[in-house]
Amino acid sequence: MLFETIIMLFFTTLCDCQRSYDNYTLFRAIPVNEDQLRFLESLPDMYDAQMWIFPSQVLRNVDFTISPEDKVKFMLEANQSQMYLTTITTDVQKLFNQQTVKSYVRRQMTTFDWNNYYRTDDIYEWLKDLASTYNTVVKLFTIGTTLEKRPIYAVEISHTSNTIPDSRSTVVVEGGIHAREWISTAFVTYLLYKILHAPAEADENFQKIAFAYNWVFVPLLNPDGYEYSHTKDRLWRKNRNNNNGVDINRNFDIAFGTIGISKHETSEIYCGAKAFSERESVAMYNLLEKYNGTVEYYMAFHSFGQYLIIPYAHVKDHLENFDDVKAIGLEMIEAIKRRHGTNYVVGTAYDTVGYQTSGVSGCWAKKAYRIPYVMTFELRDTGVEGFALSPKYIEPTCKETVDGIVVFLNGKKRSVKSLHENNSSNEAHLKNVVLILNFVLFITLCFDYLMAFLFHD
Ligand SMILES: *[C@@H]1O[C@H](CO)[C@@H](O)[C@H](O)[C@H]1NC(C)=O
Ligand SMILES: [Zn+2]
Repeated sequence: MLFETIIMLFFTTLCDCQRSYDNYTLFRAIPVNEDQLRFLESLPDMYDAQMWIFPSQVLRNVDFTISPEDKVKFMLEANQSQMYLTTITTDVQKLFNQQTVKSYVRRQMTTFDWNNYYRTDDIYEWLKDLASTYNTVVKLFTIGTTLEKRPIYAVEISHTSNTIPDSRSTVVVEGGIHAREWISTAFVTYLLYKILHAPAEADENFQKIAFAYNWVFVPLLNPDGYEYSHTKDRLWRKNRNNNNGVDINRNFDIAFGTIGISKHETSEIYCGAKAFSERESVAMYNLLEKYNGTVEYYMAFHSFGQYLIIPYAHVKDHLENFDDVKAIGLEMIEAIKRRHGTNYVVGTAYDTVGYQTSGVSGCWAKKAYRIPYVMTFELRDTGVEGFALSPKYIEPTCKETVDGIVVFLNGKKRSVKSLHENNSSNEAHLKNVVLILNFVLFITLCFDYLMAFLFHD
């Protein structure tokens, strides 16, 4: 054990190579009792194991990889507890190898596509080229800098229009908070590109949402982690703070440190020392402060599982306007399914992934800024390839997700009692009442004067 620890230390501190997942097996377990659930929860402590779907409840899938060295020992112990196990693949590295990573060639827009994945520098260069080519519509700015000195970019796209008054509300789109979920950043760059090119868009419904809002994208909130997932460890999830990293999506100031987190630095869901201890979460705080009061939609993109998740993740209850947002979510699911038959499920974190979590970005955004429409998307797939999603699925994933977003933003907005609209319609109502009272007062005064004038003696 000591020897293994020394080897691990050697590996993590001295080896500059990329971690190989050659012959790692991707397993799916379905626990049938609490003992099995606890056994699965302890996997990362007992074996060289990486969780793909975290344990939640009895009878719910748990997906994870196990190294070839630990496979026999693991299978023996799983067998002893009569665990139901299936093998998804016996060589995870082979799945990762098909995730082609392409380079972007400066000022050649067509070299950026959605049939490949891209590294941080390429994405950033592409964003800079977009900002300089379309400088009247696109604004690129920095909302923070990571420990490894990478900028965290935000991109604002605001189409000028004669017909739409400039009191548009803002849509915030967050991508790449979890390093290994590459489809997240791929999708956000796709949506950004499509919103930018909306004037040439044939679909009227899409054009409507592109023009109706002020769009703010953060395509890659965790560039340090993302780079690490490309160069060192494909399954890296957190940022790179103190080598162990912090799960940024547990670091926001909403029920911080209470549920669905770990206080151990080596855990995949380590929440950090305190809320907003991380530069990435602070960057998001800066962004929402900048647009304070105008944000109507906040969408965060993750993978995988095919879920639309509505706040709040730390409770089982359906709070605030949950029912209204869920009604729209059900329509979104229909729209998503129409294109390629992809099935989604909508609900709270507990309703969908089956466990509660705290310190989540969207939940904090909804609570702190009273943003009425907040949704976390767990994109494709349901675990066939998981984080190793093939490049051939990037475009279909992007297209169906855009279909869902068109419904989300067109929504049944007038009939929905949202947090935002409640406030503004109350205000408008109050204004009308004041106007009417003033008018009545004015008429009364006029009448008085008239009477005084006519009958002054
Ligand atoms: C993976 O397993 C195959 C078949 O057992 C073996 O030939 C190969 O050498 C293994 N690769 C590594 C890197 O261990
Ligand atoms: Zn995620």
